Amino acid sequence: MTVLLHIDASARKERSISRALGETFKHQWLSSKPADKFIYRDIGSTPPDFISESWIAAVFTPEGKRTDEQNLLLALSDVLIEELTEADVIAISTPMYNYGMPASLKAWIDQVVRVNKTFTFDLNRGDFPLEPTLSGKSLVLLTSCGEFGFGENGTREDMNHLGPHIQTVSKYLGVDEVYEISVEYQEFGDNRHKRSIESAYESIPGMIKSIATNT
Ligand SMILES: Cc1cc2nc3c(=O)[nH]c(=O)nc-3n(C[C@H](O)[C@H](O)[C@H](O)COP(=O)(O)O)c2cc1C
Repeated sequence: MTVLLHIDASARKERSISRALGETFKHQWLSSKPADKFIYRDIGSTPPDFISESWIAAVFTPEGKRTDEQNLLLALSDVLIEELTEADVIAISTPMYNYGMPASLKAWIDQVVRVNKTFTFDLNRGDFPLEPTLSGKSLVLLTSCGEFGFGENGTREDMNHLGPHIQTVSKYLGVDEVYEISVEYQEFGDNRHKRSIESAYESIPGMIKSIATNT
């Protein structure tokens, strides 16, 4: 049995392309692996709190010395980290907002990438003192954007701060492999958009096969 954690980040409940992709991925994954455990977080509808000065102070207070108030401040982070730790596959369905990720998704990442939980920090390691504590996970990134050309060698590749940002930080989510499917052209609503959607849905079964062989 593997564990699938699905994170939905679109602020839209209706007509969301990334949510629809995520739903199809989940459905096909669970159909091919019915015994799998499924954990779901709708952070688009219920965004996690932004981290704060007190949150950071609580994180840097040794566990046994935290006040009740500090433990309460970290309670959501603790639960989100438990969910992440359990997961073998993390599926994040998300829109591109302002060339990057939605604030809700950044808030989730800030809550789960936490010192002495998901990574350790040691200056004895030299110029790269951070090391993830988790490993072996696969990340499935299902994205939608209004413009186009954000892929490799595309006309807007250098404007894409969504996929590359998530890929960089995914190391500290314990991710070894990233799979990405993107829909583009939503704002144009033309045949290119239609083709982009078709090609995204066509890619899902092959991607599931590749992940299943590697997990
Ligand atoms: C607040 C906001 C910001 C957006 N910023 C961008 C952007 O920077 N680049 C882009 O290509 N599309 C942008 N879009 C278009 C969305 O990425 C597109 O509508 C996408 O389909 C939204 O995902 P969803 O359908 O899952 O809700 C933006 C849309 C919104 C609502």
